[in-house]
Amino acid sequence: MDTIISGLEGRDLRAISDFTPAESRAILDLAIGMKRDRHTGGLEGKTLAMIFEKPSLRTRVTFDVAMTQLGGHSIYLQPAEINLGVREPVNDAARVLSRVVDGIMIRTFAHKTVVDLAEHATVPVINGLCDFEHPCQAYADFETIIEHKGDPKGLKVVYVGDGNNVAHSLMLLAAQVGSHFVCACPHGYEPDAGVTEMARAYARESGGSVEIEVAPRIAVKNADAVYTDVWTSMGQEAERERRLNVFADYQINSDLMAYAKPDAIVLHCLPAHRGEEITDEVIEGPNSAVFDEAENRLHAEKAILYALMR
Ligand code: CP
Ligand code: NVA
Repeated sequence: MDTIISGLEGRDLRAISDFTPAESRAILDLAIGMKRDRHTGGLEGKTLAMIFEKPSLRTRVTFDVAMTQLGGHSIYLQPAEINLGVREPVNDAARVLSRVVDGIMIRTFAHKTVVDLAEHATVPVINGLCDFEHPCQAYADFETIIEHKGDPKGLKVVYVGDGNNVAHSLMLLAAQVGSHFVCACPHGYEPDAGVTEMARAYARESGGSVEIEVAPRIAVKNADAVYTDVWTSMGQEAERERRLNVFADYQINSDLMAYAKPDAIVLHCLPAHRGEEITDEVIEGPNSAVFDEAENRLHAEKAILYALMR
């Protein structure tokens, strides 16, 4: 097991691009193996500090349980508890934590906070969601796609909705593993142009492809997996009313799913707003894999923690 992830010890996961396509594939294989084997141990005596500047259910619980199953321990630092950058500079907090813990997971707003923390920390820093990326989610998503559909190379993975943090990480990982990725989003809500360009560069190497499309029905045609996320992310609450209008035609419902392959799986990182980005019927329907996906956060994060912190 250790040979496939050699070279990842001590590294950071600030964004998907921190790992090469081969390293990402190794993380996915390790996650699948750890789930199959109900893996325990490997991080005995090690501590993960978890800094949360936004709410969380999945990330908080799965990282905590992952550390317990690996034989280590986690410390949950509540939103506003450290007050990074206000109570003390990010670089002081990074250096203090590095003296006492073995890894830091952070959920924050600006990607720059994750980058600054990683620059000054001497222990691995893991991005547990920022406004720009949600890499741990993408590893759990592709673990789920592989479980349900097999080799992700050549599969059509369609994301419908806001070109946000979740879309960025999913698109980059899809391109690394050779999937055909389509993002269906309204004008003005496309993924970041730099991220799209980077994903296209990965796709040229992997044999995958990356497309941005306005029309959801065209995007979803013959999809193997259809993914959505909330229309209003944490921190964008003031835009909620406008976003409800902008994204009204981007709901995943049974009419839209009729364009996908009949056995296409439905994914959502959760929490979901039923009746907005996805209907109750679809999320509770036979094609929904959202609770496998939520469980796979645990296995993907065990693989990431083990690879970086052992
Ligand atoms: N999907 C996800 O990251 O969930 P939480 O916000 O509950 O952690
Ligand atoms: N895009 C969402 C994901 C939540 C897990 C947000 O940032 O709020």
